[in-house]
Amino acid sequence: MPPDSSSPTVTSICCIGAGYVGGPTMAVIADRCPDVQVTVVDINQARIDAWNAADLSQLPVYEPGLDAVVARARGRNLHFSTAVEEHIAAADMVFISVNTPTKTKGIGAGQASDLRWVEACARTVAKAATGHTIVVEKSTLPVRTAEAVQAILAAANPNGGSRRFSVLSNPEFLAEGSAITDLEAPDRVLIGGNDPSAIEALAALYASWVPQERILRTNLWSSELSKLTANAFLAQRISSINSIAALCEATEANVQEVARAIGTDSRIGPKFLKAGPGFGGSCFQKDILNLVYLCRHYGLEEVAAYWEQVVSLNQWQQQRIAHVLITKLFGTVSGKHIGVLGFAFKADTNDTRESPAIRICKELLEEGAILQIVDPKVSEQQLAQDLGQASGAGEGRWHQVPDVEQAATGADALLLLTEWQHFAQINWPAVAALMRQPAWLFDARAKADANAARAAGLNVWTVGEGQL
Ligand code: NAD
Ligand code: UGA
Repeated sequence: MPPDSSSPTVTSICCIGAGYVGGPTMAVIADRCPDVQVTVVDINQARIDAWNAADLSQLPVYEPGLDAVVARARGRNLHFSTAVEEHIAAADMVFISVNTPTKTKGIGAGQASDLRWVEACARTVAKAATGHTIVVEKSTLPVRTAEAVQAILAAANPNGGSRRFSVLSNPEFLAEGSAITDLEAPDRVLIGGNDPSAIEALAALYASWVPQERILRTNLWSSELSKLTANAFLAQRISSINSIAALCEATEANVQEVARAIGTDSRIGPKFLKAGPGFGGSCFQKDILNLVYLCRHYGLEEVAAYWEQVVSLNQWQQQRIAHVLITKLFGTVSGKHIGVLGFAFKADTNDTRESPAIRICKELLEEGAILQIVDPKVSEQQLAQDLGQASGAGEGRWHQVPDVEQAATGADALLLLTEWQHFAQINWPAVAALMRQPAWLFDARAKADANAARAAGLNVWTVGEGQL
């Protein structure tokens, strides 16, 4: 629907995938386009139930401002359902916003994207859609995936029946923790396709709140590839600054000063120059590895090796931080209590996917440390899943604590891994008094008040700050 393919007006949207992207993105579209009915569907009943929860603090995704957007639109023109085929059938436009993780086995394992969920969606759309349906790739996909989606859809309509499909690429650039502001005021919206009327139908939706000059139109392949490229460039900046952080530590330079000095060059710019424990999140690593895989597929070995190094440096940075801590604690953490401040991959999210904290904590647990982990948004169940063991007492075990004070109790060190704002306001004299001396603060985010911690008698290591 509608059967007339020339009509660019979209009145009914179905989004497949009620995850970090599908939920917030559709909530903002529904909020800004009150005349369009938007239904987010998912095969995960628990997730849909959580999106429908009366108590907005129970939404499955934590994002500042999301609850208010959902409160305005839900039940009016924003709906969440598991009736996937029914809502595809009723939609003029279907977004595919499902997970595309790295393949774990078979050809391309460890690098290529696993497209099984995208393919399943294309097949479901092929089966259930009616009339003219604009199918929008919202998931991040390898360049030329639209070819496969188009082939599956075309096979559903072998004799030129009444159904028709147009495939667009519309990658999402939101960052977690700022998803709502990113969606409400995007730097750009990217639409790739080869059906001008379908492109304009989607552009018209965004034009309800995005200035026209920020709506970019490209061919399908440029759009698909731009998404992988944007993430690769962003991640590359983090690996670059983390590499310089290590050099700063060795030379008494200070990476924050270096970042400020280079970031004021308008050609470089100040953003994404914050040294830390390495990038985490569900996408940077997977998207670069996917880029690496694609380059190899096209015989571009040098290009593949170039981008692969961004990921290698990131893994090295995480390992390096664990090793710095162990070395400073006289070469052993066995049986020592260590308070871990933050576990999410960045502040303002409950997401722990690929969080640097996972690798760093696992390494410390392997060395026999006793971890006391505090994070305001990450559940004990999530910690257990990420660390591969239930909470417990004794060497090589971890348990969750509710606040910094309990993380510090009896600890030889505090290790700050996520830049939650309240870690900048720690009462250091009180916290230091709870620790076993000589005690350390390892600040992998340069977030804590290092002077106050030092004044309270702690030894302090801050990422990228040289101390010979
Ligand atoms: P997610 O895992 O949070 O959500 C995906 C959802 O899709 C899950 O709830 C899953 O149950 C559902 N699903 C899978 N197959 C389905 C099917 N056949 N039918 C119905 N539902 C199905 O993933 P996400 O973080 O929202 O990411 C989705 C895509 O967006 C990925 O390609 C990712 O790379 C990209 N992306 C993510 C972010 C981010 O910040 N997380 C930002 C930009 C782009
Ligand atoms: C990133 C991109 O910023 C989004 O544009 C993109 O849409 C998204 O990936 C995606 O495709 O999934 P996200 O991973 O949510 O967003 O968060 P970022 O703010 O980019 O942070 C990623 C990681 O880099 C975090 O671990 C963060 O702590 C780290 N980081 C970021 C730094 O270490 N230093 C910085 O200067 C910036």
